[in-house]
Amino acid sequence: MLQNKSYYTQNGYPTLHLGYADVILYGRWQGLSNALYSLQKDNVLWVQHSKNATDSIIETYTLLNGVVEMRYDGKSRQLKIGETIDASLYENTIFLYGNTDADILIKTSHEEFEPEFFETQLLQEEADAIEALDGYTYNHCNRIKDYSLEVWTHLGLPNEKLRILRWGAYFHDIGKREIPLEVLNKPGDLTACEWAIMKTHTIEGAKIMREHKVKWLKDAATIVEQHHERFDGSGYPYGLKADEISLEASIVAVVDAFDAMTTNRIYKKALPIKDAIKELINEKGKQFNPKIVDAFIEVLKRKNYKWEY
Ligand SMILES: [Fe+2]
Repeated sequence: MLQNKSYYTQNGYPTLHLGYADVILYGRWQGLSNALYSLQKDNVLWVQHSKNATDSIIETYTLLNGVVEMRYDGKSRQLKIGETIDASLYENTIFLYGNTDADILIKTSHEEFEPEFFETQLLQEEADAIEALDGYTYNHCNRIKDYSLEVWTHLGLPNEKLRILRWGAYFHDIGKREIPLEVLNKPGDLTACEWAIMKTHTIEGAKIMREHKVKWLKDAATIVEQHHERFDGSGYPYGLKADEISLEASIVAVVDAFDAMTTNRIYKKALPIKDAIKELINEKGKQFNPKIVDAFIEVLKRKNYKWEY
């Protein structure tokens, strides 16, 4: 039976399991929401202060224990234990990398923080269910999400769209919920008819996103709908070409294909990373948007070609 990982409490407090971090919500105290963010080694907490706020919003991050490196605008430094970062002082996204496991206390006056926490619990549970359904490893959606965000940031694209990209990337295959299991998990080749059914996961996924009770998720529907489109127009469901495909979907397409090539599945062994990169280069301008392939290879290079967690 599928474990209910997300709707989980610890000592009675709502807890969110993100795969690479746990967040415990301790509720409000003196007008501020308090949460403990337990970051796992070699993972990252993205901090982006809300720019749309009309009132000044308090949002601070205090390192309680562990070794954390703060990266901002190309510079990096190690945080001291007890040091507090005031997110409102930073224009761009701050990256907090865990060199070890680390605990970070988040305090914020942002009214959306707690509703978003509970929405994320709900969405995370759905994401876990998709991974279980498709036989992926638990971290597949996390990898797609993280690398998509890295590519987006590498290209210098607007931070305001990060949340939409995050969930579009995370839910790229949500439509597989609508595909019969005998087709989804068939060990051999699919017949033409089964393949046609399989392809509908793009349109079905977009429909789920547009009708979701978390209303803002509809803004990520296009990413889900277009993640199998190809730069040369040979993809599905609509055969869109080049700039007709959203940049977000083009990013997810590259990262998802790379993940499929480099991870073991029941029916195939993983390719070495260098061979998968060669394949991406071969497909530049054919399957993939060349600009995205270049950016993704740069991101991989920066991470010393690491592709797992
Ligand atoms: Fe897909």
